[in-house]
Amino acid sequence: MRRNIVAGNWKMNLNHPDSSRLINEINKIDVNSDVELIVAPPSVYLSTFNEIQHHFSLSAQNVHFEENGAFTGEVSAEMLSSLNVNYAIIGHSERRSMFHETDDIIFKKVKSLLKHDVSPIFCCGELQQEREEGRAFDVVSKQLNHLLTHLKEDQIRNIIIAYEPVWAIGTGLTASPEDAQNMHKHIRDSIANQFSLKTAENISILYGGSCKPDNAKDIFSQEDIDGGLIGGASLDSKSFLSIANSFS
Ligand code: PGA
Repeated sequence: MRRNIVAGNWKMNLNHPDSSRLINEINKIDVNSDVELIVAPPSVYLSTFNEIQHHFSLSAQNVHFEENGAFTGEVSAEMLSSLNVNYAIIGHSERRSMFHETDDIIFKKVKSLLKHDVSPIFCCGELQQEREEGRAFDVVSKQLNHLLTHLKEDQIRNIIIAYEPVWAIGTGLTASPEDAQNMHKHIRDSIANQFSLKTAENISILYGGSCKPDNAKDIFSQEDIDGGLIGGASLDSKSFLSIANSFS
């Protein structure tokens, strides 16, 4: 089901007391009931947050594709599932660039998550140079290729896609609402061509990259933009909730 979603990616921020404070603040503030709020804290906090009553869903920021075994430092999809974590962010550009994750590795993660009923929040997006060279659509299509050609229709329905132009992440630059809409439409059309219009219409496609309270309304008003993946602004409860209440 296509839903309005605002997901906070805390990245590697906040010690335990600060993270508890933020989660309690988020828990207290009302969000429109037609918006799903997702919080992706560092994985060490997932089990603690899971134990408190909350009105948001939990997401991991990463997962390993293997089932279990000698993979020091890693967390499996089965572990997330056993904690009732519903989502995991994968393919984030920071993981692609700093941890050398390829499309093949990311797709293995998609399969492992789906196997354990955890929905991937699949990130894609082009570099500034790729946009300047007019290659943004091709780059995103290539990143989506495994999903479109190897998943079954009932599997793709469990995926959330986050379009995050790399040049907009953490920089204060945002794609214009029109440029973001064009890419979101391209993604939705690609899903419709490969599967069906009905399936494409039911997938939430989020925008990420310096999404803030002052630009969220314009971005979320676009036809094919179903919400945001929020980095910096998700570390402040007021900003995060103001973004979550930016759907018209
Ligand atoms: P940002 O990060 O909102 O700080 O640009 C977004 C993201 O990396 O998901």
